[in-house]
Amino acid sequence: MKLTSEQKALLEQLRSIVGAPYVLTHEDPATDLTAWELDWRGRERGRALAVVRPGNTQEVAAVVKACAAARVAMVPQGGNTGMVVGSTPDESGTQVVLSLTRMNKVRQLDAGNLTITVDAGCVLQNLQDECEKAGFLFPLSLASEGSCTIGGNLGTNAGGTQVVRYGNTRELCLGLEVVTAQGEIWDGLLGLRKDNTGYDLRHLFIGSEGTLGVITGATMKIYPLPKAQLTALAAVPSMEAAVQLLGLAHEHLSAGLTGFEVMGQFALSLVAKHFPQQRVPFWQESPWCVVLENSDNESEAHARQQFERLLEAAMEAGCVTDAVVAESMAQAKALWHIRESIPLAQAQEGLNIKHDISINVSRIPAFVAETNALLLEKFPGARLVTYGHLGDGNLHYNVQAPEGDDQKRFLAEEEGPMNALVYEVVDRYRGSISAEHGIGSLKVDKLPDHKSPVALGLMRGIKQALDPLNLMNPGRMIRG
Ligand code: FAD
Ligand code: MLT
Ligand code: ZN
Repeated sequence: MKLTSEQKALLEQLRSIVGAPYVLTHEDPATDLTAWELDWRGRERGRALAVVRPGNTQEVAAVVKACAAARVAMVPQGGNTGMVVGSTPDESGTQVVLSLTRMNKVRQLDAGNLTITVDAGCVLQNLQDECEKAGFLFPLSLASEGSCTIGGNLGTNAGGTQVVRYGNTRELCLGLEVVTAQGEIWDGLLGLRKDNTGYDLRHLFIGSEGTLGVITGATMKIYPLPKAQLTALAAVPSMEAAVQLLGLAHEHLSAGLTGFEVMGQFALSLVAKHFPQQRVPFWQESPWCVVLENSDNESEAHARQQFERLLEAAMEAGCVTDAVVAESMAQAKALWHIRESIPLAQAQEGLNIKHDISINVSRIPAFVAETNALLLEKFPGARLVTYGHLGDGNLHYNVQAPEGDDQKRFLAEEEGPMNALVYEVVDRYRGSISAEHGIGSLKVDKLPDHKSPVALGLMRGIKQALDPLNLMNPGRMIRG
């Protein structure tokens, strides 16, 4: 693809802002841009005009100003672990990927204020580790934490496995620093827990998937490390029983309940198949298993006693048939590792269709029974990979092609009709078609069928006000 003289001039300007080594292009055929151009699920490969890697907020602002002046679209990118094809460029070869990964510093940990302020490109796991070293907990936890960034977590309002206690990324954020679509810097890193001085701007940028501006820094809440964190795995006979167990867990553990994840038998069988080194308890005997976590500020003995009482009550009520409580940190990690390996095991099994849905928790058993029946009637042999954050009413209601089926054909021909079937039931249950992964380009054309025209009109108004030239991640989340 030949570059225009305007594109060449812009690339020169970008090199002068961030330094030539940090502007990667296809001009040199030896440069491999796959890591920035291919989405995590390997569904779409775009082509960037350039991948630009600024080293600080001022450089981000200068890059945005230069791109805006040249009317060139920008795609903010963190770890590129998103699930909805939202962080990679389109195929035009005209978009600039703005990768934040060089901006990875912890700016300040304020123990008295219980906050940490970081660059947006900080990898989530590094942020967790920094907090732990100082005796604090940063509770956002996702299986992608080794490579996703806090900017991406904020951009998607990521959920993960601790939402039942600590909320989504939005609930953990007290302040943002943002480079606007015009290249201005908004410093909103106040760290205040109370501030009613007008519209709460940070909430516009959180969950906006890079369509309104570039998040360059964030002030996040931290918590004292709990004295004990115990993990249990329970075999449950049905989804109704899993929901009943959730009620009992709230009752017995109250704020100590920090994780409640459900896993269907087929999902667990994929972990056992693709990661045979992991020992997966109960999966052969039980249709469902639940991972529970109890965080306790008193002692491990207290946490264990609470867990034992809960599991006794659950067995008496018939909602748990068997259970194991981890005896050590290593065992606890192993139980969580099983849960976190499901998306990777699914990827190993092959291409798949994802439905990241949420429904009021009390209605989930009815939703699963109804949707399973409809789906298997219309798509005989489809293999249901159901698991996820039951404590938040969020299921990953995913589907693998029938055994031996051509996976590419399955995806090309069945994804649309299958999405339509699942989302029709989700709508009837007044749920969401994207609980935590966002919209990206994967669901951008589906959104209008599931969101009210009033809500869509308000969203378009916000986009128009903040990014009138439609240069920030255009075509993602909402069409300009
Ligand atoms: P990217 O993928 O790079 O970007 C995601 C979106 O955010 C894009 O629209 C992008 O433009 C925008 N963006 C990125 N950085 C910025 C920025 N600095 N400013 C503005 N916009 C920005 N997600 C969950 O919610 N819960 C889970 O439990 C979960 N588990 C996962 C498990 C695995 C194995 C994998 C691969 C993914 C999982 N995800 C999960 C999805 C993904 O990790 C999250 O969406 C994560 O928040 C994305 O972070 P990232 O840095 O990789 O962002
Ligand atoms: C998870 O919770 O593991 C991810 O959000 C799910 C997915 O990959 O579907
Ligand atoms: Zn999830």
